[in-house]
Amino acid sequence: MKKHNFSAGPCILPQEVFQKASEAILDFNGMGLSLLEISHRSKEFVAVMDEARAIVKRLMKLGDDYDVLFLQGGASLQFAMVPFNLMKTDGKAAYLDTGTWAAGAIKEAKKLGTVDIVGSSKDQNYSFIPKDYTVGSEYNYFHCTSNNTIYGTQMKEFPKTDTLMVCDMSSDIFSRVLDFSQFDLIYAGAQKNMGPAGATLVIIKKDILGKTGRDIPSYLNYQLHIDKESMYNTPPVFAVYTSLLTLQYLEQHGGIEAAEVRNEAKAKLLYDEIDRNPLFEGYSVKEDRSLMNVSFKLTDESKKEAFDTAWKAAGISGLNGHRSLGGYRASLYNALPIESVQVLVDIMKSIS
Ligand SMILES: Cc1ncc(COP(=O)(O)O)c(C=O)c1O
Repeated sequence: MKKHNFSAGPCILPQEVFQKASEAILDFNGMGLSLLEISHRSKEFVAVMDEARAIVKRLMKLGDDYDVLFLQGGASLQFAMVPFNLMKTDGKAAYLDTGTWAAGAIKEAKKLGTVDIVGSSKDQNYSFIPKDYTVGSEYNYFHCTSNNTIYGTQMKEFPKTDTLMVCDMSSDIFSRVLDFSQFDLIYAGAQKNMGPAGATLVIIKKDILGKTGRDIPSYLNYQLHIDKESMYNTPPVFAVYTSLLTLQYLEQHGGIEAAEVRNEAKAKLLYDEIDRNPLFEGYSVKEDRSLMNVSFKLTDESKKEAFDTAWKAAGISGLNGHRSLGGYRASLYNALPIESVQVLVDIMKSIS
């Protein structure tokens, strides 16, 4: 039986994508060869890479002033690549500290220059998104994390600033409609709304590069990846191909606009139960609640065994909270059907 997968990532992808990806491992496009044994420079794979890059721009309604890269190293490598490429040798950057991953990005940037934390919710264990801050043009760039996967908070507004806007969208990319052109650089590990772990998506406004005066190690240099059309070295072919399948699936099912409607319905169903049922309590403040990751806990720990037994028996997987927070976390990524959320809500209703 297919489980109801609430895992925070790697996570559920559309079943059709799993099916097509597994077929490509055995025989890619009727070539008599596996996707995993053809050259990444073959015309068949170059077509995969080109289409994957093009579809990202179509879905996000971005123009030719942006380039799309599929790199490796996860979002974690982007924590270092961003300052390497955007922070001037004598410059400084502004960061919003909204959680463990934002703090990871801050740690890497500090190795290359001055970092000002313009807002932080750390002293309240990242239960909200700071809002009363400004970002002046003295900064080389501003970095934020649109969705905080562990705490279940999500930025609903982004600051207006004259400096470059960089956003880690690892856990809510392609999940809601935004004006993506307000960002100069967006990055995301594939393994939530896009594909398997191993590929990292970077969307970058081309004219922001080449201004730091740094000698950037080759793999870390965005310009080199742009020049080589994401083929500087052997790309993660399986992760890129599977990402393409998910992106095609998304485009065929109404794009980001339709995904947002489905995601709002799923989140409302679950948050309504958390608010209605005195046995459960949400983690984050209401106005900053994430549509993607719902972190919550029991208000009466004596019900833990009954609740855990019930959701496991119902075929639910991946509901435990992050090890740093405890409690529960239901991740409602694009591919999770509302029927799975209903199963969880029915179990929550049955606990009393
Ligand atoms: C918001 C966010 N940023 C960064 C990361 C780190 O991603 P990776 O494991 O691809 O390096 C994660 C992982 O879950 C994340 O949720």
